[in-house]
Amino acid sequence: MPTNARFDKSKLPSRHVTEGPARAPHRSYLYAMGLTEDEIHQPLVGVATCWNEAAPCNIALNRQAQVVKLGVKKGGGTPREFTTITVTDGVAMGHEGMRSSLASRDVIADSVELTMRGHCYDALVGLAGCDKSLPGMMMAMVRLNVPSVFIYGGSILPGRYQGRDITVQDLFEGVGKVQAGTMTEAELDIMERVSCPSSGTCGAQYTANTMACVSEAIGLALLNSSGAPAPYESRDAFCEASGAAVMRLIEKNIRARDIVTRKSLENAARVVACTGGSTNAALHLPAIANEAGIDFDLFDVADIMRDTPYFVNLRPGGQYVAKDLYEVGGVPVVMKELAKAGLLHLDCITASGRTLGESLEEIRGEPDGKVIHPISAPITKTGGVVGLKGNLAPDGAIVKVAGMTEAEQVFTGPARVFECEEDAFEAVRKREYKEGEVIVIRNEGPAGGPGMREMLATTAALSGQGMGKKVALITDGRFSGATRGFCVGHVGPEAAHGGPIALLKNGDMITLNALKGELSVALSDEELAKRRAEWKGPRKTAYTSGAVHKFARLVGGARWGAVTHPGARGESHIYMDQ
Ligand code: FES
Repeated sequence: MPTNARFDKSKLPSRHVTEGPARAPHRSYLYAMGLTEDEIHQPLVGVATCWNEAAPCNIALNRQAQVVKLGVKKGGGTPREFTTITVTDGVAMGHEGMRSSLASRDVIADSVELTMRGHCYDALVGLAGCDKSLPGMMMAMVRLNVPSVFIYGGSILPGRYQGRDITVQDLFEGVGKVQAGTMTEAELDIMERVSCPSSGTCGAQYTANTMACVSEAIGLALLNSSGAPAPYESRDAFCEASGAAVMRLIEKNIRARDIVTRKSLENAARVVACTGGSTNAALHLPAIANEAGIDFDLFDVADIMRDTPYFVNLRPGGQYVAKDLYEVGGVPVVMKELAKAGLLHLDCITASGRTLGESLEEIRGEPDGKVIHPISAPITKTGGVVGLKGNLAPDGAIVKVAGMTEAEQVFTGPARVFECEEDAFEAVRKREYKEGEVIVIRNEGPAGGPGMREMLATTAALSGQGMGKKVALITDGRFSGATRGFCVGHVGPEAAHGGPIALLKNGDMITLNALKGELSVALSDEELAKRRAEWKGPRKTAYTSGAVHKFARLVGGARWGAVTHPGARGESHIYMDQ
């Protein structure tokens, strides 16, 4: 039987499928797909994508996967491609579909896990596009603890309208402008045809691009592999290199949990902070940590962010889009700046098989001063995302402050309480709110929503009405990376779990202070206890069956990443060592 001396097949999971007389039936399926005897006895590498026709975000993944497979083959492995789902937030936004979004992260992780386990693949290269597919794919890698390389599908090119670059965010805000009478429907019609001119994910530092930066910083992706826009064929070099890299990881037995450690999670949080990344990272980093059995919750993310300067000028808080960042050197130059200030753990091992420090030594780029500012002269001294805590959020909350002045980061006002996003959106649409108020949207948490919906439609409408800076918004749901304004999400415990947000009434005075990290309501402990005693319990939801129901039954608090299983702490069966 052919063997490849580089790989000890007797220790790889695929031996259960390809070796010995008892596996003749299994091998017959592989021969049926055109594999040679040599290919059958090489390591089997899962190449997972989230390709589908739901949106441009994932449409280029299939093509890129073919190049990854080439890299795997050249490296002496046998690639086996498979696909999983995505839910595209841009399409799911603003209606019931958004309840499927966060739950899809777990389905992605679960489906990749089950495919890998069922077919005994030895390693994984994961390609992802839309928001939840990035953490979902990374969670599967860490959960299985297989040699793994992540590669992003790349961002979309910016659209052009009236001489300026635009993204899908301009459309969400355009809806608000039409409602406010400051834009015509005809203008909106033109804009929607030009804002998304290519394949690729949403163009600014929203959740997908934030998690793409995370993939490099955490070490699961090759340096600079996330940068080139999706339609650029220069991505192919990174795809092929990722396929080759996973073969070296098998050879050296470097597994996902050798890469994802407490230190690499901290590196990832630094990059989110200095780029003004999406608040969703405060949900996804703890979830990835859970797969490794590492305690790393919202407060840990917030601690890192508090002492990380914000120096990368990306939308929605800043001016530039992902393509601009790529053109000035991308995430490697950003990390080199962090390293100059001693803010990175350089001894972390990465998918290249080398340490982060070794890889960064080869980076020659320097800050251009526009997109990437020098860390010695940052845009602001603290991170673009801030964790909050107080009697309204004992389990924390998160807010993006990138682009906000210090004065804008403190807000006190009376609550205007809504029981769901639809009620809030309707009130905003009819302008049934007042300047100076704190809009509260509750019952939108992971379990109570269910699904922890993003409130982009409402926040974009507020921005479109020119009220983004004149009101604040808090919710136990989430915000899109494209949200602007003083919008606090992930308020925990959520209303469905009896958190203080469930006890608020119209007119309660709420204070948001991102400078101090505070989210509080001017109610005494006695008053809160009295209201808790009178509380009638969680609101019933319409989801009493199906995937969203299952998610709601299993999901934990946002502080710990809204995860649905015990992670590595509860693990007794080790896939790679079976
Ligand atoms: Fe796919 Fe934004 S909707 S990345």
